[in-house]
Order: sequence, then C-alpha cells, then structure tokens
Amino acid sequence: MSASEDEISFDEFDDTHYPRDGATDFQKISQTVLSRRRFLGQGAKFGAAAFVMGTTSLTGLAGCTFLPEDFSGVEANNKDTVTVPENYNWHVVSMWGDPLWSNSLPFDPVTRGTAESQLLAVGDNNDGMVLFEIDEKLVLASNNEYVNRSIIYGNRASKKPETADDVLKGMAGHGVTIAEIRETDGKWGIVKDSPYNRRITANTPMDISGPARGHDMMKTAADPDGATALGTWNNCGSGRTPWGTYLTCEENFNGYFSSSDENYTPSDALKRYGVGNKDWGYAWASVDERFDISKNPNEPNRFGYVVEIDPENPDSVPKKRTALGRFKHENAELVVAANGHVVVYLGDDERGEFLYRFVSAEKYREGDENRDLLDAGTLFVARFSDDGTGKWIPLTPETTGMTTQAEISILTRQAASAVGATTMDRPEWVAVNPIRGEAYVALTNNKNRGKKPNAGGNPASVNGPNPRAENLYGQIVRWRPVNNDHTADEFNWDLFVVAGNPTVHNDAYGGSENVNIGNMFNSPDGLSFDDSGYLWIQTDGNYTDEGDFAGMGNNQMLIGDPLTGEIKRFMVGPKECEITGMAWSPDRSTVFVGIQHPGEKGNSHFPEGGQSVPRSAIIAVSRKDGTAIS
Ligand code: FEO
Ligand code: CA
Ligand code: CA
Repeated sequence: MSASEDEISFDEFDDTHYPRDGATDFQKISQTVLSRRRFLGQGAKFGAAAFVMGTTSLTGLAGCTFLPEDFSGVEANNKDTVTVPENYNWHVVSMWGDPLWSNSLPFDPVTRGTAESQLLAVGDNNDGMVLFEIDEKLVLASNNEYVNRSIIYGNRASKKPETADDVLKGMAGHGVTIAEIRETDGKWGIVKDSPYNRRITANTPMDISGPARGHDMMKTAADPDGATALGTWNNCGSGRTPWGTYLTCEENFNGYFSSSDENYTPSDALKRYGVGNKDWGYAWASVDERFDISKNPNEPNRFGYVVEIDPENPDSVPKKRTALGRFKHENAELVVAANGHVVVYLGDDERGEFLYRFVSAEKYREGDENRDLLDAGTLFVARFSDDGTGKWIPLTPETTGMTTQAEISILTRQAASAVGATTMDRPEWVAVNPIRGEAYVALTNNKNRGKKPNAGGNPASVNGPNPRAENLYGQIVRWRPVNNDHTADEFNWDLFVVAGNPTVHNDAYGGSENVNIGNMFNSPDGLSFDDSGYLWIQTDGNYTDEGDFAGMGNNQMLIGDPLTGEIKRFMVGPKECEITGMAWSPDRSTVFVGIQHPGEKGNSHFPEGGQSVPRSAIIAVSRKDGTAIS
C-alpha cells in the first residue's frame, strides 16, 4: 500500500484491513446513531425549541417552529406539480429546449428538437446553478447534467438515438447553459439575445490546466500535447469563486465511452472509474471515435474534472482545473479561509468513494485577477475516526507512492485509496455555513455499505459517519475544522441528520430524532446555505412512496436549522423528478430551484400539464407578499 500506513493507528489499520463482521459493527454504530438521535432530540425539544415554543414537539406538522416562522411544513404528496407553503407561489423561469436567441427555433414537442435547435436552446436536466451579477444584469449559469433519452428521443420508436443527428442533439443537450434572466411583471424569464447567453456542450474546446496538463496520460491522437479537451458533460453540482467565475463539476463521465472491439480489456485504471466497453446508450462513439476506448484509451483521462468558466466573457475558453482531482465530482464548495488560502470541498459520488479538500498554494487577493489560484495547491482526502475526530490526509507523492502530482490529479481515487481514506456513502454536495466554521456533506445512500468494498477494493464496513449497513436513506455529516480554520488538518464531526422512516422502523433506519412523520425524506443530495445560515436540503431519492419509503412522497426540498437540528419540508416536486440546484435573487425575495427529470419513467407532464412532454425546468419561488424569504 503506501508510505502513510505507518502513520495510522492499529485500530485504523485493523478497520481497513481486517474489518469486523457487519453485525458487530452495526450494533455498535446503531447505538451511536440512537444516542445521537437522543442528543439531537434534546437539543431541539428541550433547548431552543422549548425556550421559544414551550412544549413544542418535533412529531407532526403543526406548531414547528423557529425556522422562518411564516410557513408550516408542506405535506408529502405525489402530485404532478410543485407544492410550496400556502403563502408562497412559484412559476417557471426556463425549461429544456427554450430558445436563447431570436433565431433559435421554439421547442417542438413532436420532434423534440434537432442538433441544430438544441445548440441554440437551454440544455436538458438542469442541475447545479449560480446567479451572477454582471454590469447590473443577472446571469444564471446552470448545468445540464445529462439527457433523458426516453424523452428527448420520445419521437423515435426505440426511444433511443437512431440517427447521427439524434446523437449530436444529445451531445448538445449536455453541458452548461448561461443565460441572462430578468423579472418582468412579476415573472422571471430568459432575456433572448443577451450578449451573455451561451451554450457550452460536449464539443466546446477547453484548456486543460494544472498539474495534469501535458502528462502522457492526457495525450491523444487529436491532442498530442495533452492540453486541450473537447467538451464537458454530466455536469452535476457547481460552485462559484469570489473572482466571479463558475465552477462546473463533471460527474458520471464514464457512461459516454464504449469500445468497438468487444474483446477490448480496459485498464484497471479505467475500471476504477467505471469506464468499460459499453456506454449507457448515448452512442457518442457512433459519431466521434474519441469515445471509442479501444482506439483512444486516454480520452477518458481528460474528463472527471472541475471546469472553471468566466460567465462575463462568452468567448472565454473554459479551463479544466486538474489540481482539484479527477473523480465523479459532485459540487465544488469554495470558501476563502481566514488566512487567505482558498479551500474547495469536493465529493466523489460513488458508493464507497471519498470526500476531498483542495487548499490553494497562493492566497486570494481581493481585486486581483486570482484567475489561476485553482491550478496549484494540495489536494487532501478525509479520514474520519469513530470518536468524532477526523483528519485531512494530503495526497502527495510521499503519502501516496505515486511519482508525480500529475499522476495524483489524474488517478485521484487510487491516490486516496493508497492513504486509507474513509469510504463514504456516496458524497454528494458539500455546503459551508457562512456564519459558523462548519461544513456539511450529503451522503445520499449506499446499498453496499457493510456488504461490498468500493471499486478499489477498499472495505466499506459500517463506520462512524456511515453508520448503517445497506443504507437506503442517507445522512448528512458535518464537521468543524479546529479553530474554525478551513485550512486546518484536523476537524471534529457529527451527524446532523440520519434520514429514515420512523413510521416503518424503530431502529436506526427510523432516522435521527430530528426526523419525523412531518419531514421525513430519503437520499439527501443538493445542499446549500442561505445568508441567514439555514441549510437547504434537496433530495434525489426513491419516490415510490411505498414500503421503506411510504409517506415520503415525491422528491422534495427542506430547510434545516444547524443550531437546533430542526428540519421542515419547504417544497415537494412533481412526479419522478429530483430537486437539485438553487440560487437566490440579490434581494433574497426569490429562490430559483431546479426540477430535474420530471417523468423520467413516463408519468409526468410537468410543467405544462395536459398531455405535454415533460421538461426539466428552473422555477422561481417567492413569498406572495414579495418580501425576502430568508
Ligand atoms: Fe449528479 Fe451525484 O448527483
Ligand atoms: Ca446530485
Ligand atoms: Ca443523486
């Protein structure tokens, strides 16, 4: 393994190499969850809640609380629409296929567009988003994670791409949409022909920057310098920098590669990232050989990064910031530490993969360009101990046994495995509290916990932050860096919420005490703080509303109070969607929220209703009285 193994305790060594059997671990950790359940319960029931509300109970919908007081938690439901509290309303800002320019074709529900029309229109499956104020204009950058094949190819008998143009339409539906938005007569919408409007797709030229630039593993026949890649795709969460740029995160980049030679054996390095001979049905290799790994085995090494985009300059070339590592990036939560170094928290969303932190080598200087701060620094991976402490382990040639920082930037998962990082239950978004020195990560779920190692063979026995075997509900872990210093190498952690279903289970699967019949949910994914220090939680989970998930309804958005642990449901999405991505208007009277893949299984007509084609959308939610939400 690695040089770092002699740094770890015998206990940690044992945990890694000789995992105890699941039952023993589970009993122990289950008790820990239940005691945290009591702890959170006490905080909420007998602490501040009792002070404010007297005998407030967290069970049930009524009477909660001291989160923004003006709404009652929304009840779970299975409606094919958005449900917000009574004193709020919502409307659609933009949808997949909406034109960005006057010469774009309007969305055609029969053909569902062509490659040409899609290049001039909003992409599919909006995900993470950031709103920028540029020269008194509001410019919304939003990811287009993937395309719903059964919907965008719903005009085809096979519901799959059948022509080269179909494939190119799919490629154009991916990437990022940048659009100026404006409120007119109380409704937000896209400003067509704004000079800021831009589509970035799977074919947009990008610079490769940072340690991996020019490395042999990055070189291809089309790019012998390993310095320019075409496109970005499967852009999941996002982030923003204080110097005004957008960070977009490449997640499941592997699913677009395939092999024309069915006997081709992908390298172990490709296998660790899930790159194999079959793609997920996008058929990109049918129009571009670079997606054929038997012919271009290095092409997948050029994806799986965080990409920085300048929304102010539509002609700027996006940069792949390889110093932030290569994995299935979820979001990029950036904070400037008190000492001026830039810290970016990053999750790798796959079962048993890891949580990362980047610390810039140079300091942020307000007013300076700062444009290449993300090219040099140290990448760390988290190691959690069951006693509530944790450490960030640097990924360097010394700790990993790898030869160069470039290799660590490209084979980041392998580097993290080499230092004995803690396997996690699918790290989704990280959010940093703007008011207190703490950060939160959504661990969405992990059916393999306690059963199977991760793709690198690292054991995934139950552990402190991942306390349940076959974890079908997920949890949110938070940590506080020592001295409130996000560059510190040590932290203390606890569980903010353990999702569960208290109507079905009375053990750890019932969730922590701050989960109740009025707010239960599964699979936390999007996480974001507002300026008041409330935590917004978005879900991408099981919406069957049956069995283990009975009573949870459609995917939803909730608001949590970090001080008390209290959680209230704010919104329920339409059928078969996930809720993902959010941004605030400058006056905080409107929150923009992403509704992704409504009707992914064919059972929604959101948002236009009737028999219309379901379309991913960004909506605006505001109070009926127009005042600030939070
Ligand atoms: Fe694209 Fe991990 O969600
Ligand atoms: Ca996500
Ligand atoms: Ca997810």
